[in-house]
Amino acid sequence: MSKWFNLNNKELIKSCKPALKELFQKSKKKYIELFLQEKDTEIKGINLDPLLKTEIIKRVGNKFRANVQVFPLSGKFVCTDFIFSIHRIKNSRFIRRINDVWAILPYESAYIAKKAIVNEKDFVLDLATGSGIIAIFCADKAKKVIATDINPKAVNYAKFNVILNDLEDKIEVREGNLFEPVNDLKFDLIIWNGPTVAVPKTPEKYPIYAYGGLDGLDFTRKFIKQSPKHLQKKGRIQWLEFGIGNVNRPEILKIIEKEWQNLNFKVLFERRVKPADLFRVINYHDERMEENPLNRPSFPLWIKPINKEEEQNWHNFLKKNNFTHIHSGVIKVYPNTHFEIKIASLEEKESFKRMLYFLPNDWHFLGYKRILQILKICENY
Ligand SMILES: C[S@@+](CC[C@H](N)C(=O)[O-])C[C@H]1O[C@@H](n2cnc3c(N)ncnc32)[C@H](O)[C@@H]1O
Repeated sequence: MSKWFNLNNKELIKSCKPALKELFQKSKKKYIELFLQEKDTEIKGINLDPLLKTEIIKRVGNKFRANVQVFPLSGKFVCTDFIFSIHRIKNSRFIRRINDVWAILPYESAYIAKKAIVNEKDFVLDLATGSGIIAIFCADKAKKVIATDINPKAVNYAKFNVILNDLEDKIEVREGNLFEPVNDLKFDLIIWNGPTVAVPKTPEKYPIYAYGGLDGLDFTRKFIKQSPKHLQKKGRIQWLEFGIGNVNRPEILKIIEKEWQNLNFKVLFERRVKPADLFRVINYHDERMEENPLNRPSFPLWIKPINKEEEQNWHNFLKKNNFTHIHSGVIKVYPNTHFEIKIASLEEKESFKRMLYFLPNDWHFLGYKRILQILKICENY
């Protein structure tokens, strides 16, 4: 979408939800074509005026085209950018922008949003909220949620989604770096899914949502240092861990042990899949970089190509530090009488394995039946 959402007319934004609901209920196929596969779609018999006026969609001839992805989950709707757009291609490459808002992919944001360890009446912080999806699901139980993001465009989208889902009395969205917007506050639950992708050291070449530095841990390290002082006495912390390490353990557990060993925390790492070979994952994506974007995803997530030297430096760094594997799981932190780390049993599912190669899982590349199946999986998280 070329411009941001206009947030002034709240009644107009709220009136989008019945239209989205009606389309989803009357024709899942058309809904999926329009809002997940980004196809131009002919729709009749439903009043789509609110969606046109808010620019969620636009007219293309006698069809409609989505300006944003609209993810349907448990009666809520979340607007965000497509991870790439089949209508935004230059020199056979997808155009990605530094301030794009993180898309909702299978197996990821919806998973943590629905699996949040939120209790009734909690005061919750959703750090690095992106589209706001985690905050929106925490709001069902929480007394209040503060959602923050460093990217002003993400803040705009999150605010829009909060209004769309009629949650303004529960969620406040603030802009800023890490804990800066909530410096004086303490929470019952701090939850996040932040920028954790390990990439060459060229932040200007990656969207804000992805760049995690050479080991992917730039954001996470700061979070580990700063989060305890923003926690209530019996507070909890939770995040989606998608990070590098050696064959046995993700690096994050080493950092946690070092920084939190004197705190009374029980840290639970719930694996989702067995660790995968890091270079296999990197090469898998690299092989597809040169292929036709209409058939295959352009990967990795860069905005501008990485040169050979940058890539080589990164690979040398990974090898030197014995980073050989990529781990995926959820980290949950509970109050305890002493410090301990537990690695919980594997929740291995075929679908989660595919998550490690996440772009080919994007909705653009999946058929209608598969998408229906995945939406059902998301509902049942
Ligand atoms: C992978 S996206 C996830 C968004 C959302 N939590 C979700 O699960 O869909 C990471 C988000 O972190 C935000 N972010 C990156 N660096 C940040 C920082 N230093 N402080 C706050 N937010 C940050 C990005 O703008 C982006 O919205």
